[in-house]
Amino acid sequence: MKKVRIAVLCSGGGTNLQALLNAGEAGLLPHGEVVLVIADSGDAYALRRAERHGVETAVFDKKVYPREEREREILRCLKEKEIDLVVLAGFMTVLSENFVSAYRDRILNIHPALLPSFGGVGMYGLHVHEAVLRAGVKVTGATVHVVTDVCDGGPILAQRAVEVREGDTPETLQKRVMREAEWVIYPETVESYCAKLSQEN
Ligand code: GRF
Repeated sequence: MKKVRIAVLCSGGGTNLQALLNAGEAGLLPHGEVVLVIADSGDAYALRRAERHGVETAVFDKKVYPREEREREILRCLKEKEIDLVVLAGFMTVLSENFVSAYRDRILNIHPALLPSFGGVGMYGLHVHEAVLRAGVKVTGATVHVVTDVCDGGPILAQRAVEVREGDTPETLQKRVMREAEWVIYPETVESYCAKLSQEN
């Protein structure tokens, strides 16, 4: 069986990338393999994580490439490396319609809240957890979805709920959502999506 070739796109710390790499090494990603990590900043710590695991990296720096050109270069790189599935993990660029249509139904994202709540343009990083605390909801979580040209609006593949606790700060909530939800459901969902893609091929 040919494994689904996965590229992970990151901008920052890369803890979700780490969860995927760990899952791969633990044999929990039998239908897919992370073969490429792309960052839009040379400083992204995700790049170091990839190198440590012997995964090829590429950087298309925001400071060097304007958005359109950056997307074009990333697409070219994905095609050249024969990538089947693009996994966004803290990638800070909203992808254009053109990019999404080049990999239709083959781009996944994780969002640190229970969509459709607390999603959309401007809802990223700590902003999400700040909004959750401001709203006073008692339950938050994470969502894995297929990427379409509607920001955070594509079909939902998996969700996991996480309790909001008295005294939580955006930072403590972010950590709990990552630990209890994101790092668990992303590898699981990527694996089941790869299993589905392998059946189609
Ligand atoms: C995560 O909270 C993820 O849900 C969101 O961006 C953050 C990335 O964190 N899309 P990391 O780089 O994976 O640590």
